[in-house]
Amino acid sequence: MAAVSDPINPALPLTGRTVAITGAGGTLGQALLRRLHRRGDRLIALTSGTTPLEIRDGKGCAIPLRQVGWAVGQEEALAPLLAEVDLLVLNHGINVHGDRSVDSVERSLEVNALSLWRLLELFARVARSRPTVSRPRPEVWVNTSEAEIQVAISPLYEISKRLLGQLLSLRAPVLERPDGATGFPGLRIRRLVLGPFRSNLNPVGVMGADFVANEIVRQAGWNCSLIIVTPNPFIYLLMPLTTLGRWLYVQSLCRDSPPPT
Ligand SMILES: NC(=O)c1ccc[n+]([C@@H]2O[C@H](COP(=O)([O-])OP(=O)(O)OC[C@H]3O[C@@H](n4cnc5c(N)ncnc54)[C@H](OP(=O)(O)O)[C@@H]3O)[C@@H](O)[C@H]2O)c1
Repeated sequence: MAAVSDPINPALPLTGRTVAITGAGGTLGQALLRRLHRRGDRLIALTSGTTPLEIRDGKGCAIPLRQVGWAVGQEEALAPLLAEVDLLVLNHGINVHGDRSVDSVERSLEVNALSLWRLLELFARVARSRPTVSRPRPEVWVNTSEAEIQVAISPLYEISKRLLGQLLSLRAPVLERPDGATGFPGLRIRRLVLGPFRSNLNPVGVMGADFVANEIVRQAGWNCSLIIVTPNPFIYLLMPLTTLGRWLYVQSLCRDSPPPT
């Protein structure tokens, strides 16, 4: 089978890239690391934990990866590392369920929305300032959730994921725009809209994390901007309509300042 190549620079294959994943110690983070290892990518596990990660492939062999610690609120410290990264997967998240304390509101907004948005902007800034020749187009996958548009039996989870989804709709058209003056091709952003899968965050999810990770990578290989993996058929109809509606609304109202240098 022919290797899939970068649509910006067809000489560059889409495998063997340097991939950094947040929430790497979590269930989907580990499943994605296993799947991307099979694809031949170089892996950076970004984790807020301190326990050394040991992730094994199907044959029980330890997967080579670089583990890097980070913390919400200290995203800027990742700038030198992000200069090496071709694909950034923003995947970390929490669910405080029925808790509505001030602390939970703050943590949910910071962890589920604002830290991902800050990392997205930081990666765009770093990618814009590095040489583009012989590098694949910088890419980001943002894990929002179908909670963006439907109930998840957890009000703060829904609010924070909706905020993340709305911020992405607001900023993606700007961050994806190529810059003719510098030759920067713009970011390639893919939104991951996932249904319930079994994990530490959701022990009663109906799908398996390995299945979800396989589907994500398969749809990314088809070059989908909106990657949807859910047993709920309505999401496949409603999510594209929602993102199209947001895009039309944002494009009709927003004016852009020049990108930061
Ligand atoms: N499970 C579902 O049904 C479902 C459905 C749709 C979307 N999602 C989304 O999928 C993503 C992965 O979730 P999962 O189900 O795999 O849950 P998980 O196993 O709980 O993994 C989430 C990971 O996020 C990281 N994290 C947690 N608190 C953090 C903090 N304060 N700062 C930085 N990182 C933090 C942790 O990884 P580290 O310790 O490595 O930092 C944690 O293991 C989340 O964004 C979730 O919202 C899940």
